[in-house]
Amino acid sequence: TPLEEQLKELESFQVIAHRGASGHAPESTMAAYELAHEWNVDYLELDAQITADGEVVVFHDDAIDRTSDGEGKINDYTMEELKALDTGSWFNEANADKADADFAGAQILTLDELFERFGHDARYYIETKSPQLNPGLEEALVKTLEEYDMVESGRVLVQSFEQESLLKVQELNDDIPLIQLVWYYPSEEDESRLVEWTGVTPGPAEINDEDFQAVAEYASGIGTNYIYEGQEVIDADFIRQANENGLPVHVYTVNETDEMERLMEMGANGLFTNYPDRLLKLVE
Ligand code: G3P
Ligand code: CA
Repeated sequence: TPLEEQLKELESFQVIAHRGASGHAPESTMAAYELAHEWNVDYLELDAQITADGEVVVFHDDAIDRTSDGEGKINDYTMEELKALDTGSWFNEANADKADADFAGAQILTLDELFERFGHDARYYIETKSPQLNPGLEEALVKTLEEYDMVESGRVLVQSFEQESLLKVQELNDDIPLIQLVWYYPSEEDESRLVEWTGVTPGPAEINDEDFQAVAEYASGIGTNYIYEGQEVIDADFIRQANENGLPVHVYTVNETDEMERLMEMGANGLFTNYPDRLLKLVE
């Protein structure tokens, strides 16, 4: 089936366009996804949140201030109010060299709009963002995925830092492949310890086969950072051990070519990047 094919393909290297080709166009806008799609990436990555009136929108931050001309929490606004915002001009102001008059006035995207545009001609790597701030997100997301027949057709992965959110998605539809996100950072209290962790798995130094197996029970892979303030927080052994337990490792967010090369050599099974063009050149 297409879903089995998708899972099989997770065994090869995945190019994941982080918020679209967000190094080249304003993140999470149609322009950024158009570019990434044109370049034929494996997955369009997006963060899903819910509006005050229950619509699923594609947006990363909890607040709209950084990437729009509005202010406040995204969940406080209705879809209609959010549609009035300009989510492109900030990019032109921040990136004079990449500015494009067409980006100005870019409207916030709904998940429906993204699915209407690319349909089954793309794959989507969807994060349930800040689940505690977005009540009802999992239900609305799964409903939309089913409406567009995205699951059986092998078109989606759902990722989250919150195990609970992934389990909720699984309860709603147990065919949806899930990715457990983790975030590792150096310990502040104990310098002898390599890293702390968030989420459900211990840090790389302590994680054992049982821990990986506990994740493999519900998830099809792990998404992790690799560096924190200059200190590397995962290594080739971490990736190898995850793989031995059936879990591919996708690393975020890798934008420099030399770092892409290094992580590929380490055995990473895919990279989230704002510059999929750079990564595609290495993969070819
Ligand atoms: O989803 C992987 C990566 O995007 C997680 O970090 O903050 O960019 O959503 P963030
Ligand atoms: Ca994300």
